[in-house]
Amino acid sequence: MKKNKPDGAELSRLPRHVAVIMDGNGRWAKKRLMPRSFGHRQGMNRMIGLLEHAYDVGIPYVTVYALSTENLQRPKEELEGLFDLIRRHFAEYMKRICERGVRLRVLGDPSLLPADVGEIVARAERDSAQYTGKGLNVALAYGSRAELVRAANIAVARGQMLTEESLSDLLYTGGQPDPDLVIRTGKEKRVSNFLLYQAAYAEYYFSDKMFPEFSDEDFDEAIAEYGRRRRRFGKTDEQISD
Ligand code: FPP
Repeated sequence: MKKNKPDGAELSRLPRHVAVIMDGNGRWAKKRLMPRSFGHRQGMNRMIGLLEHAYDVGIPYVTVYALSTENLQRPKEELEGLFDLIRRHFAEYMKRICERGVRLRVLGDPSLLPADVGEIVARAERDSAQYTGKGLNVALAYGSRAELVRAANIAVARGQMLTEESLSDLLYTGGQPDPDLVIRTGKEKRVSNFLLYQAAYAEYYFSDKMFPEFSDEDFDEAIAEYGRRRRRFGKTDEQISD
C-alpha cells in the first residue's frame, strides 16, 4: 500500500538532504525498443514526481544529477534531446516545484551549455530566489573535481587560506547542509564525480531499478533504510550512544 507520510520514528531520522544519481534512462528505453531520448523524457517526468514526493515527505534539500561534464561527450543527438527537454519543460516544471517554497540552485558550469539553455536555467533560478528553507539543486554540466578546483582557484585569487568550512562555502552548494543520503538507481555502484566533498559522511543507497521505474515507494524504502542505519561519523558506537 502507498505510504505517504513516514511514522514518528522514521521522521526523527529523516535526512535533511537527499541527492539522487538518476541513472538508467537509456537502458530503460532500450529494453522497450525506444530511443534513449524517450528514456530521458520519462526520466524527467519521474524526477518531477519524485521531487514532489520528497518535499511532501518533509525532506528540505534535494539534489538531482541531471548532466555531468562527462555526459557532455555523448553523441550530439542525445545531448540535443536533453537540451530540448530543458527548452520545452524546465521553466514550467521548476515553477511547479519552486511554488512549494523551494529555492532552485543549478550546480555546474553554465558556459558548457548552449547559451539559450543556460539562460533558461538561470531565469528559473532567479524566479525562485525569494524562497528560503527548502532547496532543490539541479546538477547540470557538473563535475565534482571541477567544482573543487574552481573553489580552490577562487581562494587562490583572494589570497585566502582554506579551511574545511571555507572550502565548503566556496562550493556550488555553499551554505546548504551536506547530503545525508545519496541514492543511485540503475544498478551501477559508483560515485561518478558527484558531490565528492559534500558527501564525505553520506550514506549510499543503490537500487537495481532504472530511474524511470524508481517509484515513490522505492524512495520511501531508501529513506526507511537510511533510518535503520547507524551513522557514526568515524566514532565508536559507545561514543554515539553517549
Ligand atoms: C543517466 O542515465 C541519466 C542522464 C545522463 C540524464 C538524466 C536526466 C534526467 C533524468 C531527465 C532530465 C532532467 C533534466 C533536468 C534535464 P543514462 O541515460 O546514462 O542511462 P544508461 O546508463 O541506461 O545509459
